Amino acid sequence: MKFLSAVHSSAQSAALILGAMCICLSMQIPASAQSSQAGEQKAKSSLPATAQRPWMNKTLPAKQRVEMLLKAMTLDEKITMLHGSGPCLEVWTDKCPMPIKGYVGQVPAIERLGIPHLTLADGRAGVGNKATDVTLLPAPIAAASSWDIELMSQFGHVLGKEQWDKGTNVTLSPTIDVVRVPEWGRTFESYGEDPYFNSRMAVVEIEGIQAEGSIADANMYLTMQQESDRFHADSVVDERTLQEIYLPPYAASIAEGHVGTFMCAYVKTNGVYSCENAHLLQDILRKQLKFDGWVMSDWGATHSTIDSANNGLDQQMPDASFFGEPLKKAVGDGKVAMATIDEHVRNILLPMFRQGLFDRQQPGNWDSKVRTAEHTAFSRKVAEQGTILLKNQDSLLPLRADASIAVIGEAGSTKPKAEGGGSSEVVAPYVISPFDGIGKRGKGKVTSADGDDLDKAAAAARAAEVAVVFVRTEETEGDDRPDLKLPNNQDALIAAVAAANKNTIVVLDTGGPVLMPWIDQVAGVIEAWYPGQEDGNAIAAILYGDVNPSAKLPLTIPRTAMAIPTSQKEQWPGVDGHSLYSEKLNVGYRWYDATGTDPLFPFGFGLSYTTFRVSHLVAEPAKLVLHSSTEPAKLKVTVDVTNTGKRAGAEVVQVYIGHPAENGEPPHQLRAFAKVQLQPGETKPVTLSLDARSFSTFDTAKHEWVTRAGTYQILVGTSSRDLPLHTAITAGHTGPTR
Ligand code: NOJ
Repeated sequence: MKFLSAVHSSAQSAALILGAMCICLSMQIPASAQSSQAGEQKAKSSLPATAQRPWMNKTLPAKQRVEMLLKAMTLDEKITMLHGSGPCLEVWTDKCPMPIKGYVGQVPAIERLGIPHLTLADGRAGVGNKATDVTLLPAPIAAASSWDIELMSQFGHVLGKEQWDKGTNVTLSPTIDVVRVPEWGRTFESYGEDPYFNSRMAVVEIEGIQAEGSIADANMYLTMQQESDRFHADSVVDERTLQEIYLPPYAASIAEGHVGTFMCAYVKTNGVYSCENAHLLQDILRKQLKFDGWVMSDWGATHSTIDSANNGLDQQMPDASFFGEPLKKAVGDGKVAMATIDEHVRNILLPMFRQGLFDRQQPGNWDSKVRTAEHTAFSRKVAEQGTILLKNQDSLLPLRADASIAVIGEAGSTKPKAEGGGSSEVVAPYVISPFDGIGKRGKGKVTSADGDDLDKAAAAARAAEVAVVFVRTEETEGDDRPDLKLPNNQDALIAAVAAANKNTIVVLDTGGPVLMPWIDQVAGVIEAWYPGQEDGNAIAAILYGDVNPSAKLPLTIPRTAMAIPTSQKEQWPGVDGHSLYSEKLNVGYRWYDATGTDPLFPFGFGLSYTTFRVSHLVAEPAKLVLHSSTEPAKLKVTVDVTNTGKRAGAEVVQVYIGHPAENGEPPHQLRAFAKVQLQPGETKPVTLSLDARSFSTFDTAKHEWVTRAGTYQILVGTSSRDLPLHTAITAGHTGPTR
């Protein structure tokens, strides 16, 4: 016990280091330990479906196999499954070698029973934890900006395939939390600020990952909306906001994505740490959302043995400090029931069986080369499809091939900003700089200036027809940005270049929104996010018009520092450890609309090199009768979309719902979207379906979603602030919903 508590306290102090970076560095493993990997894989492959091990019969239902196996397990074997094999939290150091090379979390195989090991690896934009020979994809926020469900599904497939081929069987991705605070250091890892939008993206990415073999681990459950003080910060949030804004991506991940596991977060929700929060883990996740997979703790997010085990944490990661010997003792002392232990093991085994981990050979290991030419092409495609054209004065873009260009700013040449920092970091096989990409594609003279010296940058801009300034933010897990300004002298750089050349285009390599005090001085602005390894090729394709931009903002870009929903320090980063979610339902564009505040660029906005028109809105039926708040596809909304310009392009049709005033909802909320490709002059009808939930609110007294009879506005257009088509329907109900 003495030894264990020593490990535990060193682990707790390590939590700070781990969390501040959680860069999930590669582990230095002694050669002797590495050989166990081969042994385990051999054991896995030689497991017959015998009479002694009936759970190995893959024709039986997963639930039945779980119960059979559970009966055969000893307490020690059960406990083994409930924590990671890291002897301590510092899994990336020599001090804490993990048995198998590479993976940031591991659970050993139990060969006697044919239970395969679990190998967990990070990476939201490719395999992380210092793996090599992998593809660096653009940040998830870029993929989401495509508003293209098919593209996001493929994103999951590519990430999942590389993880599986690396021997990973639990992929620690995606990050599905709603972006509440624009300064959040992990904005780039997530999808955006709208619960419905995040839900759609989460479902298809999870399906994609799991279809390739590994179990997806969606994170970080729940209210992980800031990095500041993240090990202790307490999110003070009312139940309705929790249900309507922060839970929907989790609910959809369960009901539609069939996600195998969730990671509980570092922060507290209403005073209780996420990984021992009975309301979050039991009332909501198990009873309300019927989740039957497992909850693992974030690395260092477990704070207790008895409370965590009894309140719903299934597995401690990455070590055994609470769920190893202390958990066994708690069972012996009668503080944790055997039935509780069984339930945790059951929650882990069920997704393992469902996902076929007992039945399938996993070919690769950490040293496998997994990147392919196809994945490289996909990385470029995502960057092209996720790059948003925000301003294009006098149609300066696309550029003439023979225009002379000055590429200005470090991010344009010497230091391209391809990805964000933290546990999601990927070892890029290469990064094409914008200077190289533009130089390869353009036919005119291309020069560069790194931007340190403003006079030199201005001179380079003056000497070229067009100046393209690349600016960057340094976003990383473990830190929020101090404010929304571009760091260093980049605002001054843009102003100096714009003063020297009226044809100045700014390319933002940022993970989230930035303030643009120079917006009126520049001719063009492009949000390229963190674009991955194909950075330069993708931006060249956009600049020269080989690809017609069609991405849209998944979050709002504010005009000023104060004109944001969370401008008060009580809201973010919090006072005395509490972050008040006092904006309630008014997150993101909901707040701008509710308060009549003008954003600089609204949610859903993005330009193209062509133009579009939406017309002929029809919503049917005009009188909607709902039987329950979970019915799918209740209302059909049809509009015509026309490409009114001269180039082929794609537009995203967006449908927002305005509730009757007595529902107390924000002015309007996204409930459907679809992307449509159109040739010049072409018109296509687009049909979108809205589910019953679109007309529901969460009733905290009844603790359920309800639909109130009334008139609902249907607003259709191409951004949250450009909704030219309106109609109204009445919704009523029969059956269990009031
Ligand atoms: C901490 C991060 O919050 C989480 O997202 C990550 O998966 C773990 N560290 C493991 O690296």
